Amino acid sequence: MQKNNLAIILSGGKGERFDSNKPKQFFKINQKTIIENSVDKFVNSKLFVKIIIVSHYKFINQTKELFNDRSIKIIEGGQTRQESVFNGLKEAKKFKPSYVLIHDSVRPFFSENIINIILEKLNSFDAVIPSINVYDSIRYSNKIDYRDLPRKNLKLIQTPQGYEFNSILEAHNKFKNQKFTDDSMIFYKSKKKIKLINGEFSNFKITTKEDLKLGKSLYKGQNSMNNIRVGTGFDVHKFKKGKFIKIFGVKIPFDKSLEGHSDADVAFHSIVDAILGALCLGDIGNHFPPSDNKWKNKSSVFFMKYAKDLLIKENFKINNLDITLICENPKVSKYKNDFINSVSQALNLKKELINIKGTTTEKLGFLGREEGVACQVSVTISKDEY
Ligand code: CTP
Ligand code: MG
Repeated sequence: MQKNNLAIILSGGKGERFDSNKPKQFFKINQKTIIENSVDKFVNSKLFVKIIIVSHYKFINQTKELFNDRSIKIIEGGQTRQESVFNGLKEAKKFKPSYVLIHDSVRPFFSENIINIILEKLNSFDAVIPSINVYDSIRYSNKIDYRDLPRKNLKLIQTPQGYEFNSILEAHNKFKNQKFTDDSMIFYKSKKKIKLINGEFSNFKITTKEDLKLGKSLYKGQNSMNNIRVGTGFDVHKFKKGKFIKIFGVKIPFDKSLEGHSDADVAFHSIVDAILGALCLGDIGNHFPPSDNKWKNKSSVFFMKYAKDLLIKENFKINNLDITLICENPKVSKYKNDFINSVSQALNLKKELINIKGTTTEKLGFLGREEGVACQVSVTISKDEY
């Protein structure tokens, strides 16, 4: 039979140890608030008929702005964590749930798998509590004392914790005037059995600013591969009469010039196209139509800066640029450093991340017949902030 599961997410604290005017649950990891990171996992699991967020009364509107899903109810918390949970349970009663999961919003790193494990175990136990062993040395320490505490039987208790609904409500009713820091203790004091399961080391509670830093780097580590994008660019310009060509923004004396609507900088155009490609934002022609006279003879440094600004706007940074310039003549190898400097400056990118190669087509085809210059570019970009 499908069980009626409900989740209570606690956000009633002010995060005083976090040292900020804003409660820690409203700080962002991966461009989403910590509370959204937590709630989204419950929503995405599709295993809950109702989610109740217990919010600090001062931040109820701010919380409502984040969530407008009809299956999410936002209510006021109490003075202590225990009171906030109790408020959540009283609200939950209206929905007659079979099982309830209680979770601290400030633990955004639990896996969706732990939700499955807890719900599955609730078919056999009335309270399922994730915990982890303590491996560090534990000492009791104050001004006069420094003592060993045997760690063998010590456990760190986490959330989400799962309960048979009526049993946890009864336990909270019984101990409503006491102060426990988690519900497993209340449940246990109520002479009910609890089942400890393996928690997750990465599911730590964000308490201080340092925890937030760790959380961000953890997220970055987990997702850096997923966020890498590749873009390619290719451009050709043909020769016309002239005295110099401009490539990579550098003027090179030559007995011909390159033809084009703007300044015909085949290399910069190709780089811009590669960046636009990686951002999935079309091509240079979409952004600067040749039909528009505004772009006539425009310096391509402008297009490069435009691409750089788009990267910043979309929160991406360039990991590396690999560029191949293809022409028989002019010989460009002696300008390589000038090219790299110019790209580096236009994109505000470290020189070590830019590679420029020159090649010919062995006299074959239009490039071999020296009818023009081609340039191809690969770029990889990744999300800049978490
Ligand atoms: N909590 C709650 N109601 C309270 C106090 C705490 O719902 N009156 C919630 C917090 O929002 C948090 C969880 O309980 O999700 C764990 O508490 P804790 O880490 O102590 O958070 P804060 O109480 O906000 O932080 P601090 O103790 O540093 O002020
Ligand atoms: Mg607290």
